[in-house]
Amino acid sequence: MSYQGIIHRYHEFMDLPPAVQPITLYEGNTPLIPVPAIADNLGGGFELYVKYEGLNPTGSFKDRGMTTAMTMAKHNGKKTVICASTGNTAASAAAYASRAGLRAIVMIPEGKVAAGKLAGAVAYGAEIIQIPGSFDDALSFVVEISQKSEIELVNSLNPYRMEGQKTASFEICDELGSAPDWLCLPVGNAGNITAYWMGFKQYNRIKNTGLPHILGVQAEGAAPLVIGHTVEHPETVATAIRIGNPARGEQALMAAEESKGRIIAVSDEKILAAQKLLASSGIWVEPASAAGLAGLTDRIKNNSFDPKGKRIVLVCTGHGMKDPDIIISRGIKPVRLPVDFDKVAEYILGGGNR
Ligand code: F0G
Repeated sequence: MSYQGIIHRYHEFMDLPPAVQPITLYEGNTPLIPVPAIADNLGGGFELYVKYEGLNPTGSFKDRGMTTAMTMAKHNGKKTVICASTGNTAASAAAYASRAGLRAIVMIPEGKVAAGKLAGAVAYGAEIIQIPGSFDDALSFVVEISQKSEIELVNSLNPYRMEGQKTASFEICDELGSAPDWLCLPVGNAGNITAYWMGFKQYNRIKNTGLPHILGVQAEGAAPLVIGHTVEHPETVATAIRIGNPARGEQALMAAEESKGRIIAVSDEKILAAQKLLASSGIWVEPASAAGLAGLTDRIKNNSFDPKGKRIVLVCTGHGMKDPDIIISRGIKPVRLPVDFDKVAEYILGGGNR
């Protein structure tokens, strides 16, 4: 039968009721793309892949956790769902709520959500509340509201989010035949790193696929798990991971420790350089999604990691189209030519602007 989303494919490995009716947009099944040119750029001699999660239906990995969370909200007769978000969760919750026929309320930090994400939440019909505070403020509000009402929280504190998100690790193992040596990914609220580690451990128990080391990467201005305490005013160009008090921080630290990996921080400059490097291989991701590569690059360049002979997977969590402004702000504009063939030919055949 044709592909019908992650619940259909991996239900047997999920803690969901057997007869549940999936709310799905056929998410998951994202490609694992080899990027040999980037491996060469980093010295070569190893296998490097991108798990391109930006190709999910709403453009980010959040759809994996949202299909399961929304399926269970519907199953349990909930009428309204709520989340705090730096943008991607909001767009995904909005899409899956409309699919389920539920009311969606999303709370976002004013002025800090990339255009493609806000537009998504609007397009899918969510009720959007913005506050002049941080993601962390918004999360504390929606958690409290959900505790005091019948409204279902669909942030990654919701355990069903983890049941869905862990399927990305199943897909990687199914594709490679075993777990990679290293998995590198961005860390914000720390749901994704927690879910990957859960998934790898589960698959290893059942299928003996082995375990990766996990490299979690935060932005320097929003690196509570690296500096060891909450960041009051997190700041980074990677707005998706602009988070100072991650809800699953303890579990993220545990995933790094148990996997004999680590959590590190990288500068915004390095994140943007990694974004460019990925684009040079045809993979345009939003800034946060380049953090995994930025972290790996940093570790290789400062000689704290030798990738030789290894198989490494970079998780690219969100599509570049989510955040067009960061690219437009580079100021590169199309060349303007008159409607005149000779002028156009002169420009092109003369070598353009190269
Ligand atoms: N990458 C992207 C593109 C994200 O949107 C997020 C989180 C992360 C990485 C980090 O994942 O939080 O599980 O550690 N975005 C959330 C949101 C916070 O509201 O969309 P995490």
